[in-house]
This record gives sequence, C-alpha cells and structure tokens, in this order.
Amino acid sequence: MDGTLRLVDGPPALDDYLRLRAESGLSPKTRTQGEAGLHGAWAAYHVVDEATAETVGMGRVLGDGGWYFHIVDMAVLPAYQRRGIGAAVLRALLDAIAQGAPPEPYVTLMADVPGRALYERFGFVETAPHTVGMVLVRP
Ligand SMILES: CC(C)(COP(=O)(O)OP(=O)(O)OC[C@H]1O[C@@H](n2cnc3c(N)ncnc32)[C@H](O)[C@@H]1OP(=O)(O)O)[C@@H](O)C(=O)NCCC(=O)NCCS
Repeated sequence: MDGTLRLVDGPPALDDYLRLRAESGLSPKTRTQGEAGLHGAWAAYHVVDEATAETVGMGRVLGDGGWYFHIVDMAVLPAYQRRGIGAAVLRALLDAIAQGAPPEPYVTLMADVPGRALYERFGFVETAPHTVGMVLVRP
C-alpha cells in the first residue's frame, strides 16, 4: 500500500462502515444492522488514509474460532481501488486465521464479481458443483 495508507486492527467506525458498503457498491445497510453486527466479527481490519484521516477500506471474518471462518464486508472506496488495499486487508484476515485458528480451518466467502480475481490470487476456488452458495429469500 502507498505511504499514507495504514492498516488498522479492528472494524471501522459505524458511519465509515455504512459509507464503505454503500459507496463501494455493496448493498447498503441500516444503522440498526451495523450497530448490531459491527463488533460481532471474529477478526476485522480497516485501512485509513492518514493524509486525510479517511477510512478507505475494510474486511471482516465471521467465525467460531474452531474451524468455520467466513470472510465478509470486503470493500474499498472506488477512488482507492487497485492500489493493493483489498489485498492487504485479505492478507491480514488470512494471517489472523492462520495464527489464531487450529489447523485446517474452513475459510469461505461469497464472491461478488469485483473480488473474484483477488480471491483467486489468494487461493480461493469455486465450490460448485460439489457445493453451491444459497441464500434465504423471503417473499
Ligand atoms: C473487491 C475489492 C474489495 C478489491 O479491493 P482493491 O483494493 O481494489 O484490491 P487490490 O488493489 O488489492 O486488488 C485489485 C486489483 O488491483 C491490482 N492492483 C493492486 N495494486 C495495484 C497497483 N498499485 N496498480 C495497479 N493495479 C493494482 C491487483 O493486481 C488486482 O488485480 P486483479 O483483480 O486482476 O487481481 C474492491 O474492488 C471493492 O470494494 N469492490 C466493490 C465491492 C465488492 O464487490 N466487494 C467484494 C464483495 S465479495
């Protein structure tokens, strides 16, 4: 990452979390959702541009600490994309799992199109056809 970008251990502030999701193109979430969930992750990192004090990227891992680890909220502001921030966050999350989890963790994510090449570079592969991701859709 560039000189003024700093990787910070922990989730971003709530307002930054909501903004990062919305401005990066992820589905926007309410304050209630953010407040309830933001501090519930097993590990989280965010990136601050010290030149502006702006939070510009983030990622979190939901996990049971044993073997289930699910990567979520990977987001970088559009103006800061393609500068290695997503890779730095993902590397930190995977290092946290490697150091804090028992051997053979099951690390998953739901890959939106913009993140696929990044995830593949880190060793993620598609699970289909053996397993496919499913989501509950309410009428
Ligand atoms: C997915 C996302 C988090 C990646 O963040 P990012 O900071 O752009 O990621 P990186 O810069 O580490 O890597 C992205 C690409 O930029 C390239 N890159 C990294 N540093 C670079 C640099 N200095 N100059 C040019 N390209 C660079 C990487 O090689 C990578 O290329 P690849 O996609 O072909 O592998 C970001 O694109 C994003 O927020 N997208 C919208 C939200 C979203 O879809 N999130 C994923 C949900 S699953």
